[in-house]
Amino acid sequence: MPTVTLTVDGQQVTVPKGTTVLEAAWKAGAFVPTLCHDPELSKPGACRICVVEIKGARNLPASCVTEAAEGMVVETASPAVVEARKTILELMLDNHPEDCLTCHQAGDCKLQDYAYFYNVKPGAFGGEKKNYEIEDDNLFIVRNMNKCILCGKCLRACEEKQGRAVIDFAYRGFKTKVATAMDKPLADSVCVSCGTCVAVCPTGALTEKAMIGQARKWEVEKVRTTCPFCGVGCNFDLNVKGGKVIGVTSNAAAPANGRDMCVKGRFGTDYIHSPKRLTKPLIKKNGEFVESSWDEALDLVASKLGEIKTKFGSDSIAALSSARCTNEDNYVMQKFMRAAIGTNNVDHCART
Ligand code: FES
Repeated sequence: MPTVTLTVDGQQVTVPKGTTVLEAAWKAGAFVPTLCHDPELSKPGACRICVVEIKGARNLPASCVTEAAEGMVVETASPAVVEARKTILELMLDNHPEDCLTCHQAGDCKLQDYAYFYNVKPGAFGGEKKNYEIEDDNLFIVRNMNKCILCGKCLRACEEKQGRAVIDFAYRGFKTKVATAMDKPLADSVCVSCGTCVAVCPTGALTEKAMIGQARKWEVEKVRTTCPFCGVGCNFDLNVKGGKVIGVTSNAAAPANGRDMCVKGRFGTDYIHSPKRLTKPLIKKNGEFVESSWDEALDLVASKLGEIKTKFGSDSIAALSSARCTNEDNYVMQKFMRAAIGTNNVDHCART
């Protein structure tokens, strides 16, 4: 594979031809902030926070859309670069609600991190602020367009990863915002609530409704698990606080699904602590279901299956298993039917 060698902050780095300056800089260990860049999405070069200085270039190019070239000399933290990044952040902060104290995303917000890193405060330019209504018409997602920095990751994820294109930039100039067709509520659009837009949002513009107010980001323990809803085997992180699952966030390292998830996997885990959930077996007595112990329930099932097998033979019994069980549970179920009951009458809800 052809390569190019360039110098980043005085250090030589060799990368495959076609690599961006941003990726080369990261490979060299340099810190280059990004907001609109996402390795899984197209590159609009929209936010300009990733600017660098390249010897011989007339301006400060956005490193995420500039191809590394042989002999290039790049500075990622020169005074001019830092000043440009600070100005970009000042412009963003002057258009941003100053509510980090109560923002659900605090602690996991790139804008907040960079403002802190570059010691940028709001108020440098003053001027008009956006004052949109907070949109919570969708069952699972809250949209606060006052916190949107127009990086466009959400709409690119919607189109490029999910193939939906439900949202896009609407209006012009200061009034530009991310909206559905005709700026209708998300609930009235063709959104399937996959939540991929929430997963890629770098600020608090898009948040999972059920998690708001449940925990600060740094209080959450992330526990990787496999989704129980179907047989695809998607992985994600349960967000746990005080032993209680408060929600789910996707994980780019998940082998089957990356950050992509369906509505059930991303937003459907509230059943875990539902008071309606059965935690004890029920046995019908005198026409009514009554709670019983596991010993009593299992003894009853074993005796009934034994009776049926003796009276009508093994093939009079069948078992239907579920994709919502683990592979191990399904294996044990078919083994039980073949070895203990003596029949091959085994089926699975996901077979068709
Ligand atoms: Fe490069 Fe936004 S990260 S332009």
